[in-house]
Amino acid sequence: MSRVRYHVSSSVASRTSDDATDEPLDEAFARAVVEGLSAPQKALSSAWFYDDEGSRLFQEIMALDSYYLTRTEHAILRSRGYELARRIAPDARPVDLIELGSGDGEKTLSLCEALARRGAQCVFKPMDISSHALEQLSQRFAEHLPGFPVQPLCGDYFLNWPATDPGRRQVAMFLGSNLGNQTHDGAIALLRRMRAHLRPGDALVLGLDLKKDPHVIRAAYDDPEGVTARFNMNLLTRLNRELGMDFDLDQFSHYATYSPLDGAARSFLVSRRRQIVHSRRLACDFAFQAGETIYTEQSQKYSQGMIDTMARESGFDVQCHFTDERGWYTVVVWQAVDTAA
Ligand code: AVJ
Repeated sequence: MSRVRYHVSSSVASRTSDDATDEPLDEAFARAVVEGLSAPQKALSSAWFYDDEGSRLFQEIMALDSYYLTRTEHAILRSRGYELARRIAPDARPVDLIELGSGDGEKTLSLCEALARRGAQCVFKPMDISSHALEQLSQRFAEHLPGFPVQPLCGDYFLNWPATDPGRRQVAMFLGSNLGNQTHDGAIALLRRMRAHLRPGDALVLGLDLKKDPHVIRAAYDDPEGVTARFNMNLLTRLNRELGMDFDLDQFSHYATYSPLDGAARSFLVSRRRQIVHSRRLACDFAFQAGETIYTEQSQKYSQGMIDTMARESGFDVQCHFTDERGWYTVVVWQAVDTAA
């Protein structure tokens, strides 16, 4: 068990002149880190991976041979674009296509091309927390699909959710197996929040990674190039920079597992020896035993049965799914059911 010394919150708010950064302290981040590193099983949320360097490393991961997810999803969107477009815009009713976490829009471009070919009256409303990614998306669409209406929204998905229009169908889209970072309960809560913004007949498109040969899955999270290790370790670099911590990166290692029993790939950072890490900005210490782990990420792999259960539990009907030939990845289309009925 680790012993933690944590001074009262007045020290969290205070800043000393030797702060390495001029950034104001992100209180929510600081609190989450203190809580996560004080727990018997240390844990940090994977949501904190994506600072500038983390986002860059994730781009590098997506290009890795072993990271099949992005490539497979993109291939499905490209090869099944016609059928997907028919499910998104089934009739003459105009559509708002709302993407949660669009990034730079590379994979959605082909889907929007299919919607344009179908002659669908569609407005693409990509949402992302990165304004830089949304700028890239706008440029990409202006270049490759000029005239296709794009209305980017920067910030929190649920605070920025576009207003509903009775004359338009809303189709929400959450790709990249991003749902997989949630526990089952977390995923249901997130899906219900999406459902709460949709009306019966509206739809949700999800990209989800499927259970498969465990060797294939483990390799995706433990690439021989070591990019995923750097991605995981970058969390410590971020803690050092933003919270004035003194993690020695040589004294931690990346560890990735996949359990076929529950379908969860999990990543950890392992302390190579007994050590104490100090945070100057938080004025507290965190003790690590040799071999002690920080749990940093869950990436859930699903069976069709699990996916159907999630749909029912969150107020949707399964409409159809588009899966690659190897059965590695699926893009599902769900329709919001009338829960009042
Ligand atoms: C962006 C959450 C889908 O879990 O596969 C990639 C992030 N982590 N390699 C995933 C990630 C390690 C990725 N998601």
